[in-house]
Amino acid sequence: MKTIGIIGAMKDEITPLLQHYKNYTTIKLGKLEFYKITLEKEEKILYITQSKIGKVSAAIAATTLISKYNCQQILFTGVAGANHKDLDIGDLVIGNKLVHHDVDITAFGHPKGHIPEIGIEIDTSEELNKIAESIIKEKNHNYKVGTIATGDQFVHSKEIKEEITNNFNAIAIEMEGVAVAQTCNQLEVPCFILRAISDNANGDAPENFEEFVKQSAIKSSEIIVEMIQLI
Ligand code: ADE
Repeated sequence: MKTIGIIGAMKDEITPLLQHYKNYTTIKLGKLEFYKITLEKEEKILYITQSKIGKVSAAIAATTLISKYNCQQILFTGVAGANHKDLDIGDLVIGNKLVHHDVDITAFGHPKGHIPEIGIEIDTSEELNKIAESIIKEKNHNYKVGTIATGDQFVHSKEIKEEITNNFNAIAIEMEGVAVAQTCNQLEVPCFILRAISDNANGDAPENFEEFVKQSAIKSSEIIVEMIQLI
């Protein structure tokens, strides 16, 4: 049996998956919950979890999925703010590189986002990214593959977006991806980060997010469901 871990930060980001698979058992670990799904025919076990928002939460979820539930691949599904002129609400972003936009040890001469012995950019699985891209292409969705910037803040200003653009070549902004990618990278487990755009990380972002989070999260989870059949 192949074991795959799936993370979403918010309830809206994992609910479409639980609704799709229907039959799951809930495993409690402290305050965390893991939803176990056995796909007999496909010979796969899925563990879905809602990490909660932010980098620490996401790293806890990824670490637990890998080291306690032996997940051999980690997929992240959710929403993000757009940081590219050709990305609009509902479009999809595959993060082939993830960066910490809020890590700052420039005081010691390092560039923004650099972590000693790790670097700035953390790669995700080329193989998983290619599979997702083929599914997305077939569905004719607008999408981009590129760098996603992660930080512990909901970005809703032109100035911060500009700063992130100047420091990193990031096309989308969210709050968990790099933590999952870094955990997977350190533990040597393939990682995949998918986001559907819920807002433009500008002044309208809070209202746009409220309005579009559910439908964008569904769009991202639909790709995950198809990926599960192919991986
Ligand atoms: N997730 C969705 N939109 C976001 C934004 N604007 N900033 C950070 N995370 C997000």
